Amino acid sequence: MIVFLTKEEEAMLKGEHGQAVRKSMEILVALGKIFGADRMLDVTSVQVAGVSYHNLGDAGLDFLHELSRDGKVRVLTTLNPAGMDIERWKELGFSEDFAKKQKQVLDAFSDMGIIQSCTCIPYLVGNLPTFGQHIAWSESSAVCFANSVIGARTNREGGPSALAAALTGKTPNFGLHLDENRQAQIIVNVEMEIKGSDWAALGLAIGKRIGNKIPLIRGVKTASIEELKSFSASIATYGGTAMFHIDGITPNRTTTPSDKISIGKADIESARTELNDACDPDFVGIGCPHCSIQEIAEIAKKLRGKKVSVATWIFTARQTKAMADMRGYTADIEHSGAKLVCDTCMAVAPLKGRFNCLATNSAKACFYGRGSNNFKTRFGSLDQCIDAAVSGKWK
Ligand code: F3S
Repeated sequence: MIVFLTKEEEAMLKGEHGQAVRKSMEILVALGKIFGADRMLDVTSVQVAGVSYHNLGDAGLDFLHELSRDGKVRVLTTLNPAGMDIERWKELGFSEDFAKKQKQVLDAFSDMGIIQSCTCIPYLVGNLPTFGQHIAWSESSAVCFANSVIGARTNREGGPSALAAALTGKTPNFGLHLDENRQAQIIVNVEMEIKGSDWAALGLAIGKRIGNKIPLIRGVKTASIEELKSFSASIATYGGTAMFHIDGITPNRTTTPSDKISIGKADIESARTELNDACDPDFVGIGCPHCSIQEIAEIAKKLRGKKVSVATWIFTARQTKAMADMRGYTADIEHSGAKLVCDTCMAVAPLKGRFNCLATNSAKACFYGRGSNNFKTRFGSLDQCIDAAVSGKWK
């Protein structure tokens, strides 16, 4: 299919708006051709993943330097986590060489006008689109949250295509930008009450059963933002879907599919078992996706007056930490010996070889902990994780 381009978009493609815009438009037109887009859409918001130097390497850094020569973003653009805490990298054990390269990556993004938010919860720190807006986000959990919970429209962008959208303000019209591709494909009846870390287990259980189909989930009565963010991360990781509907909770309309499955207690238990290796944690990691201020308040309360006996890192956005500082939550957490870590996460920081057994309440963190960092994992409730942080034992 030919992608129709406006005069302005043609000019972008010809290089009349600079080389970064030309290269970006080439990427978007190529994607549009592959996926049968008829035209380009204007986007209002971009989230760029692929920020850690650990994943980008020198080739990625060169690509960013090239774009940053004359590239400037045209819409609100925020960044996914980087490979380290930008301020406390030394104290947290990251090398000088790595920090130097990571800073170069961040400088290149900054030169393009991108906000160094370095978090996977852009929607909680100022990059919050509205229902129906077309956006271009990378980061699978945020994409799933944006499509499903907010009702904005985005495909699951890669780092380069999201950056291209930021530099042009455009994205090709295909996939989840179109009504017909946002309809539920299978009903999932949930036959138990879901709360806390059940949401992460539910995402795994459903994801493994339905793959990348869009589910219409029934039987769930309430869900907090934190639970929906955990579920978004889990279902996107284990199934690959970029969108879900929950009856009575999410805002998108959908037709009713005829295929059906049920998820009950046994499925949630088996998801929990799957994420648990026989090990006692030497690393407790909370905040995948990054913790909200509400979660930090809860963790601070649980850690107040206690001492942790193993490395305990609570991951959040720097903007959220600023609120935690004001309320004294950071002090409560850090007095226990745990660290409130910003700008990075368990999956994109180079942590391989530093720890053996990760305890977490995130199913997604287990996936990447095992895959990228070779950790054994323990998955459970926040209480179980805090208990493991204090005792060094998994109960
Ligand atoms: Fe966020 Fe990293 Fe988890 S990007 S969703 S904390 S793997």
